[in-house]
Amino acid sequence: MRALVIGASGQIGGHLRAQLLARGDAVVGTYATVEQPGLVPLDLDQADAVAGLIADAAPDVVFLPAGWTWVDGNEDDRARSFRQNCEQPLFVCQQAAQVGAVFVTYSTDYVFDGAAGPYAEDDAPAPLNVYGEAKLAAEQALLASGAECLILRTTTVYGPETQGKNFVYQLVRRLRAGQPFQIPSDQVATPSYGPDVAAATLALLDQGARGVWHVAGPDVLDRAAFARVACEVFDLDFDAIDVKTTAELAQKAARPLLAGLKTDKLRAAGISVRGVRAGLEAMRAAIEAGDAAAP
Ligand SMILES: NC(=O)c1ccc[n+]([C@@H]2O[C@H](COP(=O)([O-])OP(=O)(O)OC[C@H]3O[C@@H](n4cnc5c(N)ncnc54)[C@H](OP(=O)(O)O)[C@@H]3O)[C@@H](O)[C@H]2O)c1
Repeated sequence: MRALVIGASGQIGGHLRAQLLARGDAVVGTYATVEQPGLVPLDLDQADAVAGLIADAAPDVVFLPAGWTWVDGNEDDRARSFRQNCEQPLFVCQQAAQVGAVFVTYSTDYVFDGAAGPYAEDDAPAPLNVYGEAKLAAEQALLASGAECLILRTTTVYGPETQGKNFVYQLVRRLRAGQPFQIPSDQVATPSYGPDVAAATLALLDQGARGVWHVAGPDVLDRAAFARVACEVFDLDFDAIDVKTTAELAQKAARPLLAGLKTDKLRAAGISVRGVRAGLEAMRAAIEAGDAAAP
């Protein structure tokens, strides 16, 4: 297939591009601020450039892992949040439809309120923060548009990556440097190994899947429990971490506490995401092999 990956410099986008290339697909990948070899620049704020690139690339599939993912930042700038996390995805989807391409993008368990997670695809959303509201608005607008689209909700994505930004990288970097690191004790999710999220995306696409699907790991655990396994795998001292309740952390945006995603639908399609210990061990191996950023 011919694929366009908007946001190929990021975590999920990097894995998508690598896996598409590995299976012999033709890929155009973009970056916004973090230049990487083989990627072309694209700023989603430049609508003409976006439309032009999609028309020129004439892809069969447009992947949009790009978005504004800083949850507390979204809380402070609702207009930017809705522009980048709702209006721009809808615009990209419309442009994809014009060239007959399927549109694939990502959403989050933050569309739920965290009262009773993990959640299934058809559970009622009720976002607690602006990021979740914008992501839910995007889902609804995309589905209402009638376009050929696949929306993957995921959560707590970790694993090897080129930018080395995800939670586990931050944890390893801070603890190895002897710096303080605060984490919440009471935010539950289903951590998701990034390369598997990308592989599941391609597998679903190959099956012709459309609509909303959950793509997440099988383990339901809070952030401290996740950090504990990460410390075991990376030979770090868990007791050096400053574990606080969400109330004590006083983050700007409210967080869903019992969040996470059920993946019965995904598993019924014969697709799965590995558990946290296996994922963390694979992450460490990839880093040590020089296949990803070092912490
Ligand atoms: N990571 C998670 O735990 C998680 C959980 C739930 C849902 N999701 C969703 O999954 C998707 C991918 O997440 P991720 O972790 O892969 O994100 P990421 O690593 O932060 O990557 C974001 C990508 O978007 C690009 N980008 C940002 N602003 C842009 C703009 N204005 N124009 C064009 N490109 C822009 C970035 O480019 P540069 O880096 O070059 O600037 C980067 O390639 C997002 O939609 C996110 O909401 C992620």
